[in-house]
Amino acid sequence: MADDREPETGGAAAAGEKNPGTVPGPAGSGEQSNPAPPLDILPPQHWVQAAQDNASDDDGDSALGEDAASSTASITSTILNYRTIHGRTFHSETGNAQYWGSNDDKKNESMDIGHHLMTLTMDGKLYRAPLKKNIKKALDIGTGTGIWAIDFADEYPDTEVIGTDVSPIQPGWVPPNLKFEIEDCTRPWTFRPDCMDYVHIRLLVGSVIDWTELFREAYKVLKPGGYLESYEASPAMESDDGTVDDKSAMHQWGKFFIEGGRKLGRTFTVIDDKVQRKAMEEAGFVDIEEWDCKVPIGGWAQDPKLKEIGQYAQLSLEQDSEGWVLFMANVMVGWSKEEIQVYTTQLRREIRSGKKHAFYRQRVVWGRKPE
Ligand SMILES: C[S@@+](CC[C@H](N)C(=O)[O-])C[C@H]1O[C@@H](n2cnc3c(N)ncnc32)[C@H](O)[C@@H]1O
Repeated sequence: MADDREPETGGAAAAGEKNPGTVPGPAGSGEQSNPAPPLDILPPQHWVQAAQDNASDDDGDSALGEDAASSTASITSTILNYRTIHGRTFHSETGNAQYWGSNDDKKNESMDIGHHLMTLTMDGKLYRAPLKKNIKKALDIGTGTGIWAIDFADEYPDTEVIGTDVSPIQPGWVPPNLKFEIEDCTRPWTFRPDCMDYVHIRLLVGSVIDWTELFREAYKVLKPGGYLESYEASPAMESDDGTVDDKSAMHQWGKFFIEGGRKLGRTFTVIDDKVQRKAMEEAGFVDIEEWDCKVPIGGWAQDPKLKEIGQYAQLSLEQDSEGWVLFMANVMVGWSKEEIQVYTTQLRREIRSGKKHAFYRQRVVWGRKPE
């Protein structure tokens, strides 16, 4: 593959030395001097009571008493220097990077199910930007397990595809036109200006302090006429018919992330605040378009396609609800592992009941760098 690098190497990740479980203070913005009032997160005791109330019709969920084994993985290189929080591994706090999701196998499987789910919501499509078939280079930022990049590289066998992430969790066996690199996307990107036809960024919600700055980096590396596509989701579980009431575990789910994101200085209200479009406009993109979708959670929908999507959303969440929420509920909001387990058991109960017609919002926004 051609060398797309800037001559200097300022953006590669280097591992930090922070203790597991520590987080930086609020970064950027005025959060420190003028904090927003905390959200009304229901206390852990609420979920203990709910569990007792539900004990008679317990569905036998074993997660309540589960004792996840503590990871004792030895550190083999600085890049593999993970933090461990209650037996789950997380990427080390590195430079600007501060990722809230676990990066272990359980969480990665959940993300891969999520990929299938997101592709289903897009009728099997991997992107919405009007890409030409003969594009030469594409970049996937925050590639995770690389599953989107692998599918894209298969669909575009003549395109050089690069996936970047701060966590080295990508597989070794990938299409020959795809490579992975470790890079912190919140630092200046190391690719040459004007070399990419397409930049894809999916689910960086809660990881970015300054979205305009992120999209400016994308603008810089794109060729004139190239496209940036941003795919994000809201952590809030909502309903149109009031079944997700404010005492429900589903309602509380989003609050952990929104409150934790405020403390981290990395917003989770990207959809509500229309951050993607604003940041794209500020970065200089034109012909910006967007696509919104409500994703059902659980198999409650009548429509067969929505029902299938909801079942995958349920599977993804049930696969690892603790891996998604642990960092926020434990480190940022201060709950114990046991309190979180009681809460997630109630969450799973609600999802499985089919009585709560929950959905979350997702939005894809794409724009063109002018010629
Ligand atoms: C929710 S996952 C999404 C993965 C993938 N984009 C997908 O949609 O399947 C977010 C990913 O972003 C990565 N990430 C978080 N902060 C990052 C940063 N500053 N630079 C690069 N990657 C980052 C995480 O390590 C994680 O793999």
